[in-house]
Amino acid sequence: MAANYNNSAWFYDRLSRLVYGRALVNSQVYLLNFVPANSKVLIVGGGTGWILDELAKIHPAGLNITYVEISANMTALSQKRQTGQNQVTFVNEAVENVKLPNGFDVVITPFLFDNFLDETVDIVFNHLHNLLKPGGLWLNADFQLTGRWWQNILLKSMFIFFRLLCGIEASKLPAIEKRFNTAGYDVIEDKTFFGDFIVARVYEKRSS
Ligand SMILES: C[S@@+](CC[C@H](N)C(=O)[O-])C[C@H]1O[C@@H](n2cnc3c(N)ncnc32)[C@H](O)[C@@H]1O
Repeated sequence: MAANYNNSAWFYDRLSRLVYGRALVNSQVYLLNFVPANSKVLIVGGGTGWILDELAKIHPAGLNITYVEISANMTALSQKRQTGQNQVTFVNEAVENVKLPNGFDVVITPFLFDNFLDETVDIVFNHLHNLLKPGGLWLNADFQLTGRWWQNILLKSMFIFFRLLCGIEASKLPAIEKRFNTAGYDVIEDKTFFGDFIVARVYEKRSS
């Protein structure tokens, strides 16, 4: 079953803020500051779409944004966002099934990969890798385990909750860093949030 957050769309933001405070937002706003003006941006799994409001605060105009979200309810909420003068195309579909022209300057994956089994991670990763132009930036935020006792408990609780409610397939974090290394990305900058449990990383795709 696909990781579809339809059932949680109406309370997802409230719940995540209850548990994580501003950390999920801050980690993504940190990443958005790396988006160059007038760029072509692909956002995958943006949830309720608040990331579009935040992006428009930084770049009120000039962006060409493609927003791909598998959940119809999440997409509907996202379509109500204040996107300024930016051009936004919404696609309500699993990103791995969407044919898009390549040449994006930026790909953004906020808490997307931790939903997937390894097989799906590979498919989605390779698909997005091909859509990003050489020299482009890939902005990724995810959970990570750094050895603190409470991280595992919180992570397991999230997996169980979202498996029951939204059918997410994962039960462990994928080795996402390894994929970026193998595919030839350099880490430009990164920052952790919520006691290191959240990591936001700016990757650059090598030109050759
Ligand atoms: C954990 S939520 C994160 C939502 C948002 N990024 C946030 O931080 O509030 C993951 C989101 O990815 C979407 N999603 C899952 N699999 C997807 C796929 N294959 N293609 C596009 N979106 C997907 C889900 O519907 C959900 O909205």
